[in-house]
Formats: sequence, C-alpha cells, structure tokens
Amino acid sequence: MSALLELRGIRKSFGGIRALAGASFAIERPGIYGLIGPNGAGKTTLFDCVAGRQVPDDGEILIAGRGVEGWRPERLAALGLARSFQECRVFPEWTLRDNLLFALRPRGVGAALLRSFTRRAALPAAAGDEAMRLLKLASLERYADAPASLLSFGQRRLLEITAALIGRPQLLLLDEPASGINPGLIAVLADLLRQVHRDQGGVFLIVEHNMEFIMGLADHIVVMHEGAVLAQGPPDVVRADPVVIDAYLG
Ligand SMILES: Nc1ncnc2c1ncn2[C@@H]1O[C@H](COP(=O)(O)OP(=O)(O)OP(=O)(O)O)[C@@H](O)[C@H]1O
Ligand SMILES: [Mg+2]
Repeated sequence: MSALLELRGIRKSFGGIRALAGASFAIERPGIYGLIGPNGAGKTTLFDCVAGRQVPDDGEILIAGRGVEGWRPERLAALGLARSFQECRVFPEWTLRDNLLFALRPRGVGAALLRSFTRRAALPAAAGDEAMRLLKLASLERYADAPASLLSFGQRRLLEITAALIGRPQLLLLDEPASGINPGLIAVLADLLRQVHRDQGGVFLIVEHNMEFIMGLADHIVVMHEGAVLAQGPPDVVRADPVVIDAYLG
C-alpha cells in the first residue's frame, strides 16, 4: 500500500541558500506527527513544497501514492490538503462564522464574491453546524457572530486552525500553531486537535518549537536539521536521542 505522504530527496535552494538538502520521510499511517528542528532547518520550506507554494528543485512528493510536485494549492486542496501559516491569517473584519464558511468555499471563488458567498444560502445547512461544532471545541462559540478583530492573538490562531479543519482535511499541515499563545489556549488547542483527529482521522503534521506541546500531542516526531531528516520516532525515543539533543534540544 502507498504511504499517505512520502517525500523522496526533496531539494530546494534560494539563491545560494540551501533550504532543503534531500529531505526524505514517509508517513504510512493516520496520526498526529510532529516536525521539529532548529531555526532555518527547512521546516517551513518543506511545508511550502508539500502545499504547492514552492516547487522543489529536485525530489518527489507523493500523497497517497500520487506524485504532486508542482501542483497548485487549489488542486492539492481538492485532494484533501489544508494548511496554516507561520504568520496568522484570518479576515479581521469578518465574523468568526464567515471566516469558517469562507474556508469551505468552492475552489476558484474570487475575492470579490467572498462576502456575498458566505451570506447567501450557497452552502449546505450542515456547514453552519460544522462551523459551530468547531468553534465550540476551540472555546470560541460565544464570538461566532463577532468580527475576528475582537479576538486576542491566540484566539485568532485557534480560529485559523478551525478554518483549516472545517473541510475535514486528510492531510493537515500546521506551522507553529502554539507560537505566541498563552498556556491556557495551548491546552485548548491540544484538546481541539486531539478531538478532531479522533473524529475524522487523517494525517496531522505539525511544525512546532514548543516541545512540551508537541511531545505531548504527537504520536511520532520527525527531526530536521540543515535541510534533511536527522532522526524520527516516538516522542520519548527522539527526546532521548543524543544526536537530536546535540543538534536541537541541547
Ligand atoms: N523565500 C526565501 N528566500 C530566501 N531564503 C529563504 C526563503 N525561504 C526560506 N529561506 C531560507 O531557507 C532556510 C530554511 O528556512 P525555513 O523557513 O524553511 O526554516 P524553518 O525550519 O521553518 O525555520 P524556523 O523554525 O525559524 O521557522 C533558511 O536559511 C531561510 O533563511
Ligand atoms: Mg518556519
């Protein structure tokens, strides 16, 4: 059977900077996976390649056995991929509900149509229920009809993540979801991801520097260093690996 996600020898340089130097790993089973490594290790570049924001210079990316290098983000979304960005992205003037419903729009709906789209009955009734279910899991339901600009930074992060979750992605990429948010909301975030993964399965691949968060959440950790995979395994094994301690955990 094909791996759910497989990277084979991915290389990517920006001018003289080698961001990815032959990164390879395979995810065979549904689960929550952590991707860790020092600043500049290539984690975001790897996400950008998988999510179609960057085209690798070399190597193969396979999703469920299908080669997807160079696919555009919209086409990858149709295959079940969703992501969040290292910098938080929500529409501040829109309500939380509209932010979530927008994430469910059919591919190709342009910016000018967005507002009218989320207001009209173009979405199945179940979409509204699904939005409320996720807002509740993120402890945001009381703000459903308020503009996102009223939220704290951490709450915006949670909103962005619920927007990535609402399409029930089979492959979810989150880039530093816990960064800059307070411990109380980090606990909400961990519970949200655990609960949604329990309900709908798939592969959640999460880049994170917060070791307590990711080691407690992920079933399996992949460690990157200088553009390649340095080690991988269950959190306890990776945490105790002298090579990983040397390169990153110090
Ligand atoms: N668009 C770009 N142009 C030039 N250099 C880039 C670009 N994107 C990334 N790089 C460089 O590639 C290397 C890998 O960067 P990347 O952002 O993938 O690392 P990272 O592991 O996500 O780091 P961090 O933990 O700090 O987010 C770094 O040296 C970075 O400066
Ligand atoms: Mg990064």
